[in-house]
Order: sequence, then C-alpha cells, then structure tokens
Amino acid sequence: MNVKLSFTPISKTPVDLLAVVLDEETTLHDIDDKRIVEHVARAAAGFREKTLKREYFATLGEGASAGAVVVYWSPQLKSWNLWENVKTFTARTLRLARDYRMAKVGVVVNTRDSGPFVGKVVEGAVLGGYTFDRYRQEKDEFLAKDASLTIFVHKDHETDAEARKSRYLWVSDNVNRARDLINEPGAVVTPEVFASTATDIAREVDLESETLDPAALEARGYHGIARVGAGSDHPGRMVVLRMVPRKASKETLAIVGKGITFDTGGISLKPGDKMWEMKGDMAGAAATLFTMRALGRLRPQLKVVGILCCAENMPDAKAQRPGDIFLAKNGKSIQVDNTDAEGRLVLADGLARAGEEGATHVIDIATLTGAVLRALGPSVAGVMGNDPELIQRVIRSGANHGEAWWELPLVEEYKESLKTPFADVNNIAAGGLAGAITAGLFLREFIPEKTPWAHLDIAGPMFRDKDWKYYETGAIGFGVKTLVDLCERFRDPV
Ligand code: BES
Ligand code: ZN
Ligand code: ZN
Repeated sequence: MNVKLSFTPISKTPVDLLAVVLDEETTLHDIDDKRIVEHVARAAAGFREKTLKREYFATLGEGASAGAVVVYWSPQLKSWNLWENVKTFTARTLRLARDYRMAKVGVVVNTRDSGPFVGKVVEGAVLGGYTFDRYRQEKDEFLAKDASLTIFVHKDHETDAEARKSRYLWVSDNVNRARDLINEPGAVVTPEVFASTATDIAREVDLESETLDPAALEARGYHGIARVGAGSDHPGRMVVLRMVPRKASKETLAIVGKGITFDTGGISLKPGDKMWEMKGDMAGAAATLFTMRALGRLRPQLKVVGILCCAENMPDAKAQRPGDIFLAKNGKSIQVDNTDAEGRLVLADGLARAGEEGATHVIDIATLTGAVLRALGPSVAGVMGNDPELIQRVIRSGANHGEAWWELPLVEEYKESLKTPFADVNNIAAGGLAGAITAGLFLREFIPEKTPWAHLDIAGPMFRDKDWKYYETGAIGFGVKTLVDLCERFRDPV
C-alpha cells in the first residue's frame, strides 16, 4: 500500500474515507471542513453519553473533503494505551476501506503534539494490512494494490514525520516478513531453507554471515543442534549474522534464536492435538533474523550478532533417545530425559557461540515452554535473566511498541530439580512444576561467565488463534519490535 504524508489542511487533499481517533486527554485532529467537524462532534457526544459503542460512521455529501468519515473512541479499548489504539483503529479503517472499496484513505494526526503518532499509524497500516494468503485461491488484493493511505500531519513535523514514516515502514515490513516465515508450513521452511533465507538477507542489507552445516557443527563441538536434528532428513544449521556499526562499538550484543522448524517432540512424541502449531517453533530465530535485517539498514551504534539455531525435531531410528547423554560445547554433559525439551539443547550451542563472538550482553529468544503460555497466556511473554538492567530494557522497549513482557524469577532452589546422577545437568526438571523457570535455569548453565543475559520465552504470543488488535489470526512476529528498539536505545539510560 502506498503511504503518503500531507502537511496541508484536510480540505486540500480529499479522500474517500477519513478516520478520526478521539481520546479523553489527547487531541489528535485539527479539521478545517465544517461538515466533518459536525460529525466528529456528534460522535464525541455519542461516545460520552454511551449511546454509541463501537464506532461512528457517516457518509458526506458532494463537495466535502471526505466521502465518508469514521470516528473511534480510544477509551473504548481499555486494555491498551492510545498508541496501540491508534494502530488498531488504523487497521480497522483499512478493513472498512477494503470491504466498501474506498481506495483513498486518510488518517488525521495533525495537531502539533501528535507528531509521534505518525509512526504508529504507519505501523497499524502495514501490520493491519498483512494477510497470509499465499495458499488461498481467494485473495483480496485491494489494499495491497489499489488503496493508498494519506496521513495528515502538522506542518511543524515536516522533517521528523518523514523519518518516522520510513523507520516504521521498514521495521513493520520486517515484522511481516517474520510472520510469513512463521506461518509457512514446516515442510517449506526446513533448516536449510531457513539458513539460505538468512544468507540472502545478509547480502541484501550488508551483514556478515556464516553458516555451519552438520559437518561443521560436529567438527566444532556444537552437538546440541546435531543431536536434536538427528532424526530429520533436514539436518540442522547454525547461522551467525553480524551487524558491524560504522563506528567501533565497545559493546557487543548477541541475540540467540530458537529455530526448531518443526517440533514433533521427537521420540518423546507430542500429542496430535494442535501439533501443527509447532511449525512456529522457529519464531525466536525468525524474530532474530528480521531484527538483524532491520538493523542492517538502521545501523544503530552497537555491534549486534544474531545466532540462529535451526533444527527439525523428528522421531526416527536415528533420533536421540530419552536417557541419551552428550557433551555441550562448554564442556558440560547433558542428559536428555525428554526429547521434547529440545529448544534448550540447540540454544546451549548458540549461547556458547555468543561467548566466542565476544558478546558483552546476551539475549536469547525462544518458543521454549508450554508452561509460560499457561502462566501468562497469549498476550504476554516471559522474561528472565541475571541482569536487572537488561531485563528492564526489554520490558521498556516492549512497552514502547505494544509488546508486553513480564519478569519471572530464576528461583535458585529450583536448580536442584535439574540434577541427575548420570550427567552434569538434566534437560527437564523433576516434578514438572515451574517449567518456564526451570528452562531458564537450564539455559543459565550455558551463559558465558559474568555476562549480562536475558531469556525471552515467547511461546505464548507465537500465534494468535483469533484476530487480535491490528493482527490477523496466526503469527504476529512477536519480539522484532522490542529487539529493534532495544538496540536503537542501547546507549540511553534505562
Ligand atoms: N516448542 C515447545 C514449547 C511450546 C509449547 C511452544 C506450546 C509453543 C506452544 C517446547 O519444545 C516443548 O515441547 N517444551 C516442553 C518442555 C517439557 C518437555 C519440559 C513443554 O513445554 O511441554
Ligand atoms: Zn519440544
Ligand atoms: Zn520446541
């Protein structure tokens, strides 16, 4: 969809459908067409008196600056802040435009204070306009091909609005690309396809890249990825992507992503119900990859290394068995009591690699446990770690973009439950309680010494089973927006 900015009054750029968002505290609109102003006033009164619930819609006569106007009331979406609501309303406006074939759409954020909302409208349009229809015969390409969006902005924001527009267009494109990769079936996105996609992206946005195939993984002692992928016809890969900033950076952030392209559970086979969702078990690696793609153009002043740990977890004669023991890269022996707790095994390799890359800070992102989904549901992701400041940075960056993170404690005494008489550490905890936390404690065993680390468990928000906010059903690319923001603000105080 074509997104344009207009710095002139509404009356100068007529549209087919104009969207106005009302809020109790912030005024976002300044409209110079009396007929529209009358409708907005009528809508405001209706919302305040509660005679109107969802939205106000009216068509205008000949000669008005808008063919139709739609007015939204922000306090109606109580769970979210105004920024999120602006995105949701923008997405809703575009769906309305699609259903009624109104090609020229406008959104007003043209008071002097509403400059920062420009990016949010852009994001709402790009994420809201997304649809995964590649495999459907019935497609509606009206939004992609015929529609255009004009954002009305105050003229004082002429310079910063263009910058916001391009930043949000680019980051949102990366969120959508992550959604595509997660929504694709496991038969399409195998570890080798994941790795070659990453290599193409590295070339596109000028990142350094390196791919380790099964022989290289074996030779260098990355046994976790090899073991997890042993039962698959599509053996594992590790991909390392480096974004080197223009000026040398004292700090290096490593982002390690879980990339299980399909998780059957392996020999500890999962039940069939909803197993299809495990095509999304590479959502952490997808978030890492598209964060790196975004950073390739944004080039913040921070060295960032993305490490993708890709494997397919299949049951087979060659697959690893419950009770198998192997040596991780950092010398610790791991007993695999449950082959379905495979994410932490591939991440152990990625975390070791982070140390070898000279990371001063490490973040891992993974659809790691069903337990975090039970604890926090689909709208909130878990964060754990050894560094309160890094955890705070994650939470703050998420809050800036409508991605919610909640800290879970790494309860020291639960470490006992990972003990086994036969190896240094077991891959599942005895007792089965606090599964998200014991997974975090397992990962801590593989963090390079004294390195600030945050573990992000995104098993909850990996997929939505219904449309939500501005997202359609399916993958939402959770984590990209948080990680990009975190890198951009890495130098700012928390
Ligand atoms: N990929 C799953 C976790 C998951 C579950 C992600 C639901 C998204 C939605 C992970 O590999 C897994 O199977 N974890 C097990 C761990 C258990 C065996 C200790 C789990 O959570 O049940
Ligand atoms: Zn699993
Ligand atoms: Zn998994």
